[in-house]
Amino acid sequence: MEKDYGKYFAPSLKEARKRIKTEIEKIRFTFPEHLHQFGKGKKYLIKTYGCQGNEADSEKMAGILQKLGFTETDKEEEADLILLNTCAIRENAENRVFGELGRLKNLKTHNPDLLLGVCGCMPQEERVFNLIKEKYPYIDLVFGTHNIHKLGEYLYDAYLNKEKVAEVFSEEGKIVEGIPTKRAHDRKAWVNIMYGCDEFCTYCIVPYTRGRERSRNPEDILNEVRELAEQGYQEVTLLGQNVNAYGKDLERDYSFADLLNDLRGIPIPRVRFTTSHPHDLDDATIYALGRGGNLMPHLHLPVQSGSDRILKKMNRKYTAAEYLEKIRKLREHVPGISITTDIIVGFPGETEEDFQATLDLLRKAEFEGAFTFIFSPREGTPAAKYQDDLDPAVKKERLLTLNELVNEGYLRGNKRFEGKIVKVLVDGPSDKDPGLLTGYTEHNKLVNFPGSKDLIGKIVDVKIEKAYTWHLRGIVGGTHS
Ligand code: SAH
Ligand code: SF4
Ligand code: F3S
Repeated sequence: MEKDYGKYFAPSLKEARKRIKTEIEKIRFTFPEHLHQFGKGKKYLIKTYGCQGNEADSEKMAGILQKLGFTETDKEEEADLILLNTCAIRENAENRVFGELGRLKNLKTHNPDLLLGVCGCMPQEERVFNLIKEKYPYIDLVFGTHNIHKLGEYLYDAYLNKEKVAEVFSEEGKIVEGIPTKRAHDRKAWVNIMYGCDEFCTYCIVPYTRGRERSRNPEDILNEVRELAEQGYQEVTLLGQNVNAYGKDLERDYSFADLLNDLRGIPIPRVRFTTSHPHDLDDATIYALGRGGNLMPHLHLPVQSGSDRILKKMNRKYTAAEYLEKIRKLREHVPGISITTDIIVGFPGETEEDFQATLDLLRKAEFEGAFTFIFSPREGTPAAKYQDDLDPAVKKERLLTLNELVNEGYLRGNKRFEGKIVKVLVDGPSDKDPGLLTGYTEHNKLVNFPGSKDLIGKIVDVKIEKAYTWHLRGIVGGTHS
């Protein structure tokens, strides 16, 4: 029998676009008494798609579920609850999720008590929300990015009141501190420093799915990192869609550079962050990175295009020359820094000349890695309405040409470490060859090397013997020259 909706609230992209500068309330997470242990005996499985922001959200949902008494399983057939934490960034990301939903329907036929939920960025789009409602009636639970802290209540309604729940807010309400977190790793941790994005790059759905830019209080961030250090964590990655805008919405004068300088004083061996926006990356941040310490010499700085005309149409707020000047300065103050980027090809109206400008910038910038994408129109964003008459075959061709150049950069970036001794935080056995250990260097290069399992979770010296495009090969030990 079809269940009725209990809680029901639909999203609106139009609402999500609004930016009203009211103060953001910061509250502490609490558990309603009646939810205590109601998940006892039940098993959950969370499937995470998309960016690190989603991975961090999944860790919070897992934390809430554990507190409710649920236990984790990695087997679908065993699960009482399956949650899909989704990504809306490109069409293929969404198609994967729809494929998965079709497949999970069968599972539900075999196990009618299975509770299926969809959350994250996709339900924030009204198109997807309506599609789920109409075409996927077997989905019990739909919520978005702004209300993961209410997961316990939603499950309670879905299980005990036997209602369907679909509640997606377009407007972010509060910053909720103290949500229980079950972290996926015990040595590396995500730390959100801010939520949302106000940049409105014309191709991008994120400002709509994640709402307005809002920063956590510095004390909350610093305390979290201090606690992680005490628990033996070796590395934190600070998360925000545009970390360089951190602090702009705070009542006091406190910037991203201030945060980095304060984090340098905390005994956590490694601090990374993502993602930076070239327009907001300021000198103070470059100088902070230059002081080194636990701030790692790697920066992911998405450029998107090398053509000023396209950059303008993308609303990126910098020119190719300005971008190159930023990275010149970075290299001057942070010698040896590794710089990686994101690039979109086939943006509406991209000519051969524009594409050549991107290749030209790539050669000058000497990136050591890049994520490359073909433009994917996202309904509700300005670029989705731009005239786009470029042959898809040409877009593919451009992507291939671009990737060849990008791969040269990966190899060049790895080659510079041949014969050197580098510090590697050991993650565990290599997926491809379980006889080897694997981990990342300070410059964020992947290294494989033979070694004892005792080294897992530690930072060790590794001498690099050979560089390949996607990884380095080394041996433990050696002395620094
Ligand atoms: N806030 C981050 C991450 C955004 S999503 C940032 O600003 O860099 C990661 C990357 O996906 C972007 O950098 C961009 O290169 C790509 N991307 C975003 N929207 C896209 C779209 N509609 N089509 C293709 N690629 C897109
Ligand atoms: Fe999207 Fe631009 Fe914001 Fe990044 S900075 S999340 S690309 S709008
Ligand atoms: Fe995707 Fe949402 Fe992250 S759209 S990239 S999961 S912010």
